[in-house]
Amino acid sequence: MEDTLDPPDLKAEAHPSRRFQERLLRNPEDREAWQGLRRSYDEMAEGWREWTDDQRGYELPVREGLRRARPAEWAVEICCGTGEATAAIAEVVPRVVACDLSLPMLRRRVDVPGAGWAVADVRSLPLGTARVPLVVSLNGVFHPTEIVRVIRPGGQLLWCTSFRAGTPLYVPPERMHRLLGEGWTAEGGHAGHGEWTLFTAPYAAPEA
Ligand SMILES: C[S@@+](CC[C@H](N)C(=O)[O-])C[C@H]1O[C@@H](n2cnc3c(N)ncnc32)[C@H](O)[C@@H]1O
Repeated sequence: MEDTLDPPDLKAEAHPSRRFQERLLRNPEDREAWQGLRRSYDEMAEGWREWTDDQRGYELPVREGLRRARPAEWAVEICCGTGEATAAIAEVVPRVVACDLSLPMLRRRVDVPGAGWAVADVRSLPLGTARVPLVVSLNGVFHPTEIVRVIRPGGQLLWCTSFRAGTPLYVPPERMHRLLGEGWTAEGGHAGHGEWTLFTAPYAAPEA
């Protein structure tokens, strides 16, 4: 069996997902990049659970970040894949809705009692504006506009990666912080091979 003590070398800097994420941060309308991401994860769905199960402490950053988050009555997980972080969220948040765009991923999801599942695109989440107390993602696609739209004033975003900069979809926390906009605060840390960052939305929109 592969040695799981070290993080895997996913060639993150040259990984197609990194390039697509970078393109989307520069131009959120880049349809080809969105399609590329979608296609590649649909193709990776078979075997995703087996691979993640082999990674030591894969979802540890989520567990650690949740210890620092404010109590929330419900949460939305975006880019949930096959639900690697969903059980950890459901252990501390009474109601969890886990979303992903990929049906092949969702069809292979883990069983998490009480969690709801939905097919949803991070570009247009089926959620009202300023309603969500907590959004969580592990190794997700970062699309700040929609996150900022759905989180309620004072709500939180817990963004985690399993392998820090070795994660293909990695975006440095300082960059995410800037992209979320004025008034957001951030704290973060490391857990396992990964990283968590807990962003808190401002209570009121900054003065124009
Ligand atoms: C790196 S995987 C992470 C899956 C899981 N959270 C994990 O850590 O194993 C990225 C996920 O983002 C999903 N994804 C890609 N594009 C998306 C989009 N536009 N909207 C929602 N999810 C998307 C993929 O289907 C995939 O499940």
